[in-house]
Amino acid sequence: MRTNQPQTIYLSDYQVPAYLVDQVDLRFELFEDGARVHSTLTMRRNPEAAAGGPLELNGDSLKLESLELNGSVLSADAYQDDGDKLAIPDVPAEFQLVVVTWIEPQNNTRLEGLYKSSGMFCTQCEAEGFRCITYYPDRPDVMARFRTRVEADKGAYPVLLSNGNPVEQGDLDDGRHFVTWEDPFPKPAYLFALVAGDLLEKKDTFTTCSGRNIDLRMYVEPRNSDKCEYAMDALKRSMRWDEEVYGREYDLDIFMIVAVDDFNMGAMENKGLNIFNSSCVLASQDTATDAAFQRIEAIVAHEYFHNWSGNRVTCRDWFQLSLKEGFTVFRDSQFSADMGSPTVKRIEDVTLLRTAQFAEDAGPMAHPIRPASYMEITNFYTLTIYEKGAEVVRMLHNLLGSEMFRKGSDLYFERHDGQAVTTDDFVRAMEDASGRDLAQFRLWYEQAGTPIVTVADDYDEANGVYRLTIKQAIPDTPGQTHKKPQHIPFAVGLLNTAGESLPLNLSAEEQRGPVDRVLELTESEHCIEFHGLTERPVPSLLRDFSAPVRVRYPWTREQLLFLMSHDPDGFNRWDAGQRLAVDVIQSLLGAAKDDSVEPRLIEAYRHLLNDSELDQALVAKMLLLPSEAYLVELSDQADVPAIHAAREQVLKCLAHALRDELLACHQRNLDRGDYQLSSEAIARRSLRNIALGWLLHIDDEQALTLALEQLEIADNMTDRLGALRALVNSGFAAERDRALADFYQRFSDDPQVVELWFSVQASSDQAGQLPQIQQLLQHPAFDWKNPNKVRSVVGVFAGQNLAAFHNPDGSGYQFLSEQVCRLDDSNPQIAARLVSPLTRWRKFAPLYSDQMKAALERIRDKSELSRDVYEVVHKSLAG
Ligand code: TRP
Ligand code: ZN
Repeated sequence: MRTNQPQTIYLSDYQVPAYLVDQVDLRFELFEDGARVHSTLTMRRNPEAAAGGPLELNGDSLKLESLELNGSVLSADAYQDDGDKLAIPDVPAEFQLVVVTWIEPQNNTRLEGLYKSSGMFCTQCEAEGFRCITYYPDRPDVMARFRTRVEADKGAYPVLLSNGNPVEQGDLDDGRHFVTWEDPFPKPAYLFALVAGDLLEKKDTFTTCSGRNIDLRMYVEPRNSDKCEYAMDALKRSMRWDEEVYGREYDLDIFMIVAVDDFNMGAMENKGLNIFNSSCVLASQDTATDAAFQRIEAIVAHEYFHNWSGNRVTCRDWFQLSLKEGFTVFRDSQFSADMGSPTVKRIEDVTLLRTAQFAEDAGPMAHPIRPASYMEITNFYTLTIYEKGAEVVRMLHNLLGSEMFRKGSDLYFERHDGQAVTTDDFVRAMEDASGRDLAQFRLWYEQAGTPIVTVADDYDEANGVYRLTIKQAIPDTPGQTHKKPQHIPFAVGLLNTAGESLPLNLSAEEQRGPVDRVLELTESEHCIEFHGLTERPVPSLLRDFSAPVRVRYPWTREQLLFLMSHDPDGFNRWDAGQRLAVDVIQSLLGAAKDDSVEPRLIEAYRHLLNDSELDQALVAKMLLLPSEAYLVELSDQADVPAIHAAREQVLKCLAHALRDELLACHQRNLDRGDYQLSSEAIARRSLRNIALGWLLHIDDEQALTLALEQLEIADNMTDRLGALRALVNSGFAAERDRALADFYQRFSDDPQVVELWFSVQASSDQAGQLPQIQQLLQHPAFDWKNPNKVRSVVGVFAGQNLAAFHNPDGSGYQFLSEQVCRLDDSNPQIAARLVSPLTRWRKFAPLYSDQMKAALERIRDKSELSRDVYEVVHKSLAG
């Protein structure tokens, strides 16, 4: 841990590497008390760099055992080594360097570099974990061929894996053995991986479009044997999809997936050897919810797609992170849309974006998708880089059309295969393939903040002209003011009072214009006229959420109700419902308990519950009220208890008014046949569980019986957890406690289910008040060393249980600051992520913001603060 102030790194300081690595030969000797790493680097001066300076290699708390240059041991005065950097002032133009380090994976709680998880060795090298293993030019623009020999005890670690193809194996003395792997594709060190353990192997194969047979392998702990099938199938679907949609074939002869329990993030795309957080890959009907299955499919696809968008073409430096992440998230969301319902997938993506990314973009950590500076790169694996980055690629897709976009991606892969490039190279490929000028579009990469698009309209009855005045403004963000207007694709449609789509004629001459148009906003103000109208239309704005912006338009409740049932754009139907619900909830803020809820909202929901015509998956989404987090995001000076109370009032009122419809909905959507994962079956499960949840929210006795019965007979985790969640959020305390105890009893040996059990409680305003959270931390299944457990209790409490976290007495903030400080010593990456709910302190009413700020200051004043937490806390207090 560092005591001095961390440095800021600037994109503008980028320089090409002074030395390149052609070949890396690694030998890992793995033992229980540590590991010896022998690394032989074949290096040469970079012809593109300025004349040779010293050789500088990165390290992180390393213990150097020996160093040899071209076969001679270097004496201590021939180099400097402080654990974090190795400098050799004098090296020839070409040389071989042998570095031997001793590391202690068994004591590595940061989960970066080589560490142990449930008895197995595994690695995480992105972004800068390789330097925790050995001294190396640890930057993505240094790409080398890796050959890796892993040696370990054969009994304890029968499976030894690394990137590429296995080329040699054999037995050694003392019951040890080795396997050597060779990866023919040059790669940056962040894609290096090693796994050693007593793992079960699941085998499958895939035949590529050119007829090559690929061995597919999953490696899991033996107890997870029956939880692999879904991910394996998802992998095959992803491989086929990438061939069909992007023309991308897999390149090695083997593709491996490993599941580990202790992992900082979701999964990692290491070349040929993807490593997954267990919770993002293992699933069975009995233990995984529908949401978990969908997440697994998306993450398996995401990591697989990185083989091209990330590995074959990688990032020049970490400022370009969105080059691979934005593009790959876009690709995985297209894939998920193709596998299920595109509208539902769009709603889910936009919900995350508007709730969490917009908040980030409006807060002290706001940054463009290509940042200009950072202190700790792991803090920049953000919703902005990933989700806004994906939206920017989506806008390119929509501006160019699928055909040109595919031409652009083909050109990008062809031009840059084997290279480390920039986001600008990506845009240039799109530009060159399509012939479009994307100069202004590039501002999306440079300017932070969510553009606000304000729309006003008027109708000129005499001439049949409807006019939209559209203005854009981009709010100031830390270090950026007075921004230039961006290139915004703004999809619109117009409806007449009968609910029919009207032709969009942009001039008096145009007669039968299309019913959908993408207006390209490039100025701070546009005035657009639609001709040939016989009545004032209702506008449908930003269809399918065609750009990551906030739209302001003075919708009336009538218009929203109308769009909710008539807009042919499924996304905007849902959005109209959300806007109406937000409006109704906001109007009740601070109202008396018995103030009435807009009756038309109730009727609209009644209509939805009875609507069997509409896609039931969309109905299920439309029934969900906007979350508290979204309502907070929409307000300034947020008073969370008031928001919570207003939302509860609407929810309870709906549940009372629609009791019969909800019971019928639950009944109608009961499954009789076998469990299936089709969109239709998933929609039925979510509808019946929403109905149950609402009814238990008002402590309905009949629903209590239904929930207890569902818990008893459920043949899948979606229904079991649905019933448990409904009970936990009800006032039936005795039944809730019994159900929680039974559930735990039944699943106590399954970590993924125990994590669900923790998070159901931590997110509940009934069962997740601070004293109960404190108890969960004392539970035998809780483990500070396991990020999933920390997230499912502390992360869920602070991020999802807003009313309990924002207790006016400040106890929630105090609690979080204590947990952050405690984690900072063992796992700074996770600690820094946990700070996030405090960072937006300025958004809250003074009673809250003062105490949130004080909590941040307490973290700031901890001694030996990690660079990770330092950056987040200091920027939050300053920005
Ligand atoms: N590249 C990974 C992904 O998005 C992200 C990742 C996995 C990561 N593990 C990490 C980033 C650890 C930082 C630290 O697919
Ligand atoms: Zn990724």
